[in-house]
Amino acid sequence: MNKVYMETYGCQMNVYDSEIVKRILTDHRFELAEKPEEASIIFLNTCSVRENAQQKVFQRLHVLKKLKSNNKELIIGVLGCMAQSMRQELLNGKAGVDIIAGPDSYKRLPDLIENFRLNGEKEFELTLSEYETYSDIFPEPDDDVNAWIAVMRGCNNFCTFCIVPYTRGRERSRDPYNILQETQKLAEQGIKQVTLLGQNVNSYRYNQYDFADLMKIISEVDDIKRIRFTSPHHKDFPLKLLKVMAENPKICKHIHLPLQAGNTRILDLMNRTYSKEEFLDLVSLIRQMMPDITLTTDIIVGFPTETENDFLDTLDVITKVEFDAAFMFKYSERKHTIASRKYPDDVPEEEKSSRLIELVNLQKRIALKKNRQHIGHIFEVLVEGKGKKPAQLLGRNDGNKIVVFPGNGASNGDMVSVKIEEATANTLIGSAV
Ligand code: 5AD
Ligand code: SF4
Repeated sequence: MNKVYMETYGCQMNVYDSEIVKRILTDHRFELAEKPEEASIIFLNTCSVRENAQQKVFQRLHVLKKLKSNNKELIIGVLGCMAQSMRQELLNGKAGVDIIAGPDSYKRLPDLIENFRLNGEKEFELTLSEYETYSDIFPEPDDDVNAWIAVMRGCNNFCTFCIVPYTRGRERSRDPYNILQETQKLAEQGIKQVTLLGQNVNSYRYNQYDFADLMKIISEVDDIKRIRFTSPHHKDFPLKLLKVMAENPKICKHIHLPLQAGNTRILDLMNRTYSKEEFLDLVSLIRQMMPDITLTTDIIVGFPTETENDFLDTLDVITKVEFDAAFMFKYSERKHTIASRKYPDDVPEEEKSSRLIELVNLQKRIALKKNRQHIGHIFEVLVEGKGKKPAQLLGRNDGNKIVVFPGNGASNGDMVSVKIEEATANTLIGSAV
């Protein structure tokens, strides 16, 4: 009667939020189901960032709805960003959804379930909070080596293409000592690597503590060997943060620094608050202070009014910076956003596709070149699991690159020195030394 099955779509924040939801429900005597068929309640934790993320959820709901014919009591719920942005579409009868709850409403889930069972009427809770950080809930990590920790939630940047400020509300940060407690608890459970999460993680601020202070505090937990963070914004990289990163060996030398576009006019229309040159300047400063830094990025092609010439600026920045990896997307117009109100989605689909292909091909060549430069180097690899091949182990180096090597008796959570012998665009292959 009280078995819950959860499925997660979208970003790492959603992965963490699903862990929060599981903790809230198990604290209220719900149990977790391994498969949807065994569940009396199915929750999809969803993403709205692009149209195809939403399509996936609607398709999944269509399949799950069929389970209701064998199990009349089955409750289907949609959580997260789509609950917030697609309320009408989800609550109409066709979707087969009984409960929807936005990212700040998870503590209400036990009540929503009870009310639905009592009244049989669709339940929703979509209030966005200025305060909710779930800081009183320490979720159970899904992994034995890595854990996520949300340190701030929401976003105030209002990049014009992005729906997140509307689905997740305003920025709010957690007390650093509460985050420290969560980190200590994770360390006691054997976690070796934490990734600090926020929609705009380096704008973290709690009283006098900024993001650099927070990272220093967390790095004092002995058994945590590596600290990562994602996703930062260009505007919040004071020298102080770069110094703390450079000086603290536990803070991984990897920055995921979203570029979004290389052309200053487009960046301006996106409200990114930096020009092409300012982005390149920050990259130079970062490399000056941390020569071995791994840099990765996010890029959108085909933002409204982007011409072929504008796009060349994106290729130019990619060529100059030589990111180690990139997530690349076609612009997808989102409801509510400033871009959807001000700028018609006027770049033809074929143009978007051809730009994306060109960009992906260029980035692949760069990633391969950069990975090949690692051949002969020895990296400390934190073992996270098994590779695809028999007896192969898989882990990541400090720069967040996947490294595979023949098993040498090491277990998950061990640090192993691995000499790189081969490289693909996505993986370094080596042997323990
Ligand atoms: N269309 C395409 N990509 C988007 N992103 C955010 N909003 C959109 C959109 N409307 C991308 C950005 C962001 C990443 C998480 O998703 O690159 O950094
Ligand atoms: Fe969206 Fe921009 Fe906020 Fe990132 S910083 S969540 S892209 S609005």
